[in-house]
Amino acid sequence: MALDPHEFLKTLEHRSGFTNDDKQLLLSYADWGQTIASEMADHFYAYLDRDPEMSNILTAKEGRMHRLRETFIQWFHEMFTGMDNWDKAYADRRWRIGLVHVQIGIGPQHVVPAMATVVQEVGNRLRAEGKEQALQDALGRICMIDLAFIEQAYVEVSSAAVLRETGWSEGLFKRLIATGAGTM
Ligand code: HEM
Repeated sequence: MALDPHEFLKTLEHRSGFTNDDKQLLLSYADWGQTIASEMADHFYAYLDRDPEMSNILTAKEGRMHRLRETFIQWFHEMFTGMDNWDKAYADRRWRIGLVHVQIGIGPQHVVPAMATVVQEVGNRLRAEGKEQALQDALGRICMIDLAFIEQAYVEVSSAAVLRETGWSEGLFKRLIATGAGTM
């Protein structure tokens, strides 16, 4: 795969303005994050369950819902700890999460509003507890970085599949996309 997750993470940090101060702030709230993770998972899966299409995906496999709840809590906690200070392990994990969603066929139309729900619910909780605005800002930035990983996985996997199947060059593929977008 052409995309280097670590490089991609650094680019996104720069683009989002995700700073060392944000990282320190998130780390200082890691325990607090863990105390609200389960409640956030409840909101998240209640939201997915209200949508018939996403609800079908969630219940398509035995034990999936339970597994997902656990992985969500883990994912949520990692946003605060950064795993390895938001380095290679963090980038590889976010890339892997993206690939898992691509494999299952969960697209941007599902993931973007789902992440908006996380941001909104965390925001509600932060306001209710009178937490500092800087924490909400830092969380918003890391959520958008994680979201970008899932979205980019789509683009990378789809392009790589077409290039592999057809033997087209990247240049030709880009021209075809530009032409196709122009005719839609
Ligand atoms: C905020 C957006 C989302 C986050 C952060 C998230 C997080 C995760 C994580 C951490 C995993 C585990 C990946 C692994 O096994 O390595 C996962 C898997 C999965 N997610 Fe999501 N997810 C999101 C959106 C969605 C949406 C919108 C759906 C739609 C139903 C969904 C359904 C699934 C399914 C079906 C799996 C695989 C479960 C299994 O069978 O093991 N996710 N997700």
